[in-house]
Amino acid sequence: METKKIAVVGAGNMGHQIALCAALAGFQVKCTDVSSEVLAKAEQFADSYLPERVAKGKLTAEAANQARANLAFVPTLEEAAVDADLVIEAVIEKLDVKRSLFAQLDQITPPHAILATNSSYIVSSKIADATKRPDQVCNMHFFNPALVMKLVEVVKGPHVSDETAEAVMEVARKMGKTPVLLHKETYGFLVNRFVQATRQEALKLLDMGMASYEDIDIAVVNGLGYPMGPFQLMDLTGVDLAYHVYMERYHESGDPSDRPSPTVVEKFVKGEWGKKVGKGFYDYGSKQ
Ligand SMILES: NC(=O)c1ccc[n+]([C@@H]2O[C@H](COP(=O)([O-])OP(=O)(O)OC[C@H]3O[C@@H](n4cnc5c(N)ncnc54)[C@H](O)[C@@H]3O)[C@@H](O)[C@H]2O)c1
Repeated sequence: METKKIAVVGAGNMGHQIALCAALAGFQVKCTDVSSEVLAKAEQFADSYLPERVAKGKLTAEAANQARANLAFVPTLEEAAVDADLVIEAVIEKLDVKRSLFAQLDQITPPHAILATNSSYIVSSKIADATKRPDQVCNMHFFNPALVMKLVEVVKGPHVSDETAEAVMEVARKMGKTPVLLHKETYGFLVNRFVQATRQEALKLLDMGMASYEDIDIAVVNGLGYPMGPFQLMDLTGVDLAYHVYMERYHESGDPSDRPSPTVVEKFVKGEWGKKVGKGFYDYGSKQ
């Protein structure tokens, strides 16, 4: 069945931009969040982003109006998901939260609906059995900022049907993305395995007092040609997200080496979560 209606659940760092991408691509999109404040902020973003793109000559006024008309911000999960062909979940990186959400979605959505998770690391087989449609549950992993980054990783776990994987790949293509298909599940998929390896090394060097975080970023950008350093990237993607990723892994493995580094714990506890709160490793003056 052709995907026409998409529900995006979670309107935070990732969800609000995924919803806009889908609306710009012509899908009927409903976006929701448990926080009315976050949802209002997501709507304000759409209302300022679209006219800005028109003013910059990147989008016609007609396309902007159409995208806005395609996009609704709704207060409840029921409203968002009741008639969805595809749900893209972008809530906090905690397995228990995702599992309980997918169990709810299984009750709310039409039987044909595909339930996709934008999780950064959690493979969908850990979530799929919370539903009665595991063959229609898969990973659809966007990158930050979702309006800009082209890559989408689609992961075909052992429970995922060919039809589901192909339908999700097709939605990504229609959104103007460049999807890649993973034939097997692996923690962190493709890209975040690289991100995690670099981050681990950067945190180790920082915690050993080898160099400042600024100099480590400068070294990685200028020596490896990366667009940003590991600490700048953590500020962009969220120090809170990094903390949750480490903790989820640690809870699963019980291996002390999977615990977040002292630096990440300190930043998390202080609420210095990065750009979205105005301060992380770097100071951004005000919320971005
Ligand atoms: N931040 C990134 O760079 C990035 C990149 C790719 C993937 N991801 C993944 O996307 C997901 C979201 O990350 P984020 O950075 O956007 O997080 P975020 O904290 O910015 O946003 C998550 C939102 O989900 C909402 N939420 C929590 N529980 C909910 C529920 N049950 N129903 C509806 N809304 C709920 C929260 O209120 C919050 O606004 C995570 O799984 C993360 O791993 C993040």
